[in-house]
Amino acid sequence: MKEKEPKVVCFSCRFGWGYLAKEEEIAAQVKNWIPIICTGKIDTTYILNAFRQGADGVLLLGCPEGDCHYQDGNIEARKRINLLYSVLESCGIESDRLRIYLATDPEGKTIPQLVGEMSDTISRLGPLRTHRARQDDFISAKKGKENGR
Ligand code: FES
Repeated sequence: MKEKEPKVVCFSCRFGWGYLAKEEEIAAQVKNWIPIICTGKIDTTYILNAFRQGADGVLLLGCPEGDCHYQDGNIEARKRINLLYSVLESCGIESDRLRIYLATDPEGKTIPQLVGEMSDTISRLGPLRTHRARQDDFISAKKGKENGR
């Protein structure tokens, strides 16, 4: 039986990624692709909400260092991501499920490839499971044992 394909949400900055391409063409190749104005506009709540709503991974594609149209939005985004890693780990979410990549690809041809690579990483990790879900499984298994199952 084929494993379920991981759900990767990809936020990509319109100034650095795919601005020469037709958005419909990229969207046809990348299921959960969300073009944005700047990675600096991505609040951590957007990322946490993506995980809460079923994402197995989140990928941010921002402009290269020194090339953000909002001065340092990309650098601020990277700082936020670095802080978020420890929060995610404390919730049982592996840091490999969140990635930021600062570069540029005007035609957006590498977007599907980068999402695919992230999807491969997540496939190896398996579906997203928080500490809470693991605890619930443990409690269910323990109750099952107590009930002789
Ligand atoms: Fe592209 Fe800021 S404008 S990351």
